[in-house]
Amino acid sequence: MRLLVTGGAGFIGANFVRLTLETRTDVEVTVLDLLTYAGNAASLPEDPRVTLVKGDIADAEMVDALVAEADAVVHFAAESHNDNSLDDPWPFVHTNLVGTFHLLEAARRHGVRFHHISTDEVYGDLPLEGGDRFTPDTPYNPSSPYSSTKAGSDLMVRAWVRSFGLEATLSNCSNNYGPLQHVEKFIPRQITNLLDGVRPKLYGAGLNVRDWIHVDDHNRAVWTILESGRIGETYLIGADGEASNRDVVETLLELMGHERDDYEHVPDRPGHDLRYAIDASRLREELGWEPRYGDFRAGLSATIDWYRAHEAWWRPQKLETELRYQRLGR
Ligand code: NAD
Ligand code: DAU
Repeated sequence: MRLLVTGGAGFIGANFVRLTLETRTDVEVTVLDLLTYAGNAASLPEDPRVTLVKGDIADAEMVDALVAEADAVVHFAAESHNDNSLDDPWPFVHTNLVGTFHLLEAARRHGVRFHHISTDEVYGDLPLEGGDRFTPDTPYNPSSPYSSTKAGSDLMVRAWVRSFGLEATLSNCSNNYGPLQHVEKFIPRQITNLLDGVRPKLYGAGLNVRDWIHVDDHNRAVWTILESGRIGETYLIGADGEASNRDVVETLLELMGHERDDYEHVPDRPGHDLRYAIDASRLREELGWEPRYGDFRAGLSATIDWYRAHEAWWRPQKLETELRYQRLGR
């Protein structure tokens, strides 16, 4: 099988390529990645079964040639960070909407199976109190330029299935954690701050809740959907990992040998979504997927160990990231 993985030099895509090489002997992977600030060729394993092509998913000609050679496309490439989208939305429109459009058109022309990676943020947020969870029937209500462009890309995929018969599936996953995540994101930012002797930074009161899932559990679900998912269907991916940002920071502090309250509050993110929570019943009951990383604390501990052991990987991102946060006042 020849797989085209867009965004394969990013956090989830690179972990997907690694998992694929470990678990499938019959798959060859071409990664199409622009290597933006968020992409890193060093995240990919050196393996004769992996080819990295540096390019833009909004480059229609290049996309057409690569899709023509593939048996399936797994589309991870995106501008992925909410804070950046609030600062400058244009790259999000370019990549998440225009880029996805060109991929869909190429997949339609060449009759190639397509899996679209998306986020639970397309559904907006939930109240902090109460046990509501997102389901595939929850109406779209995105809050940020990031989530609105992801929502637009999801709707295009659905329309291409219905109007053109594209063989596509979609998945909307909650917050991922694990190795190879850019230090701009919450968990790696706090771990690397602590390694640098800097106090963790909580937006606002820190009461916002995210539904954490290990990146390998997400990627195993993607393979399950690619192989057994119903065409046109949307699968929500989540592992019942709800935790407030304050809880996460306190756990990181404890695991790294600090007092649990040794953090600081910084100004909140504008429009900050309160709570996400996923009901993954369809994926569990229809396709038999189960998460393997049940213990979030153990997963965080392993993630801390990974960042301790891989400073050469994250150090080049750190200064630039913190300067950007300084400019944003967070
Ligand atoms: P990331 O920012 O770490 O990686 C994105 C990758 O896409 C980078 O390698 C970047 O170079 C590449 N890219 C960006 N613009 C491109 C373009 N125009 N052409 C080609 N490549 C381009 O993101 P991530 O966290 O790995 O997220 C991957 C996907 O998963 C995204 O679609 C995101 O919306 C979705 N998602 C992420 C999470 C999460 O918690 N991180 C949760 C649910 C869904
Ligand atoms: O829910 C899935 C989404 O999860 C993905 O679609 C996005 O690509 C991914 O970035 C993530 O979005 P969030 O905005 O939830 O993730 P982030 O890591 O930026 O922030 C997680 C929470 O932590 C959020 O409530 C904001 C807060 N935060 C973040 C940073 C960087 C802090 O309190 N302090 C921080 O320094």
